[in-house]
Amino acid sequence: MSKSARIHAHPCIVCNELVEKSLCQDHPWLYGLACPNCLVTCKSTSAKWFNTVSFECENCGDIKNLTIHLDRLVCLNCIDHDSDKSSSKARYDWMEKITLLHLKNKREKRPLRVLSLFDGIGTALLVLDTLGFEIEEYFSCEIDDAALAVLNFHFHGRIKHLGSVNTLTAEKLRSLGHIDLLLGGSPCNELSLANPCRKGLYDPTTSGVLFFDFNRVLKFLQASSIRNGRMFFWLFENVAAMPHDFRDTISKTLNCKPATWDAIQFLPAKRARLFWGNIPEMHRKQIVNTPPPLLDDILEPYRKALVQSLPTLTTTFHSQTSGKELQLPVMQDGNEDGLLITERERLFGFPSHFTDADISLTKRQRLLGRAWSVPVIEEILFPLTTLYKKRQLKH
Ligand SMILES: C[S@@+](CC[C@H](N)C(=O)[O-])C[C@H]1O[C@@H](n2cnc3c(N)ncnc32)[C@H](O)[C@@H]1O
Ligand SMILES: [Zn+2]
Ligand SMILES: [Zn+2]
Repeated sequence: MSKSARIHAHPCIVCNELVEKSLCQDHPWLYGLACPNCLVTCKSTSAKWFNTVSFECENCGDIKNLTIHLDRLVCLNCIDHDSDKSSSKARYDWMEKITLLHLKNKREKRPLRVLSLFDGIGTALLVLDTLGFEIEEYFSCEIDDAALAVLNFHFHGRIKHLGSVNTLTAEKLRSLGHIDLLLGGSPCNELSLANPCRKGLYDPTTSGVLFFDFNRVLKFLQASSIRNGRMFFWLFENVAAMPHDFRDTISKTLNCKPATWDAIQFLPAKRARLFWGNIPEMHRKQIVNTPPPLLDDILEPYRKALVQSLPTLTTTFHSQTSGKELQLPVMQDGNEDGLLITERERLFGFPSHFTDADISLTKRQRLLGRAWSVPVIEEILFPLTTLYKKRQLKH
């Protein structure tokens, strides 16, 4: 290496060789720059890790607490600190990156088989349809009559209703066949900081414990996907405003940290939510190129916005007000007014009248207050579109 090249030389994060910096690039799943050699070999090395559905420690076969150390996939117990040639550290989303790389070209694309727990008004199915997935089966757990009315109004004949998540025994889960995607946001009333009387995750008489039903189903499906050698994705959602210990318990139980997504990036209403899961790139830095629409764009044409954006809309009327004076968001004919139901629907990214399934306005407002924001779920699930079969468009 010439003297000037040595000045610009950089140690490769994997092999520690000094290489001219301009030839190095960011390593795909380690923090730092790698030499061209290591950049090529890391792709084939990772293919070996990806041969089965689950990643496992190369040393002891454990599937928990994995990390990448230099060019080896190991669990935290098996890291060989003596071999420490460099300070390589795995990127937080290494697993998603490797999954995406190897799934893209390898598999024949299949239609999706989905299990949606706490399905609400079927936001998941609406989004999967919008993204163009071919759906082979959509199993739904929901018990609320108003939500079921909306589900049946839009998706009659396409959904297999399974009732309460409590009834999902191992035998029933086995009878569903393979599931590619498990989704669910359990009720948040007992977890949210907005509820001063919240009972948390463990009171068996309240809805907080339903989180553990999600976890039970998740663990069952993870184990069976490892056995049958098929890939399995999952997503669990809950409010961002919850006490730290609830959040930590959920993270520990689900074995991963959440990503935060806020609907305010896409629509003029806040809705910060935590998402745990293994959807490729769900932890990506969220850069939105187009600014969200203005509140005026969402309102009916004869109404004017009095605020730029709305606070998080919940099931209550008051959630739409701002400030101490409880300012309503809309002006119509010289009077302050609250949101119309169609405006609420659009503020969540639903088409107008989506919840109009012959149920009362109060029930529609309650269903929306609990719902997912459509563009957020679209953005999170988008990377799966390269991995599963798309619907054929009918002429
Ligand atoms: C936070 S909401 C989820 C809303 C949904 N993600 C959506 O976009 O509409 C929680 C849902 O869980 C449902 N739920 C409550 N207990 C349940 C149970 N035991 N089994 C199935 N669903 C239940 C509620 O009726 C409610 O619709
Ligand atoms: Zn190298
Ligand atoms: Zn190990």
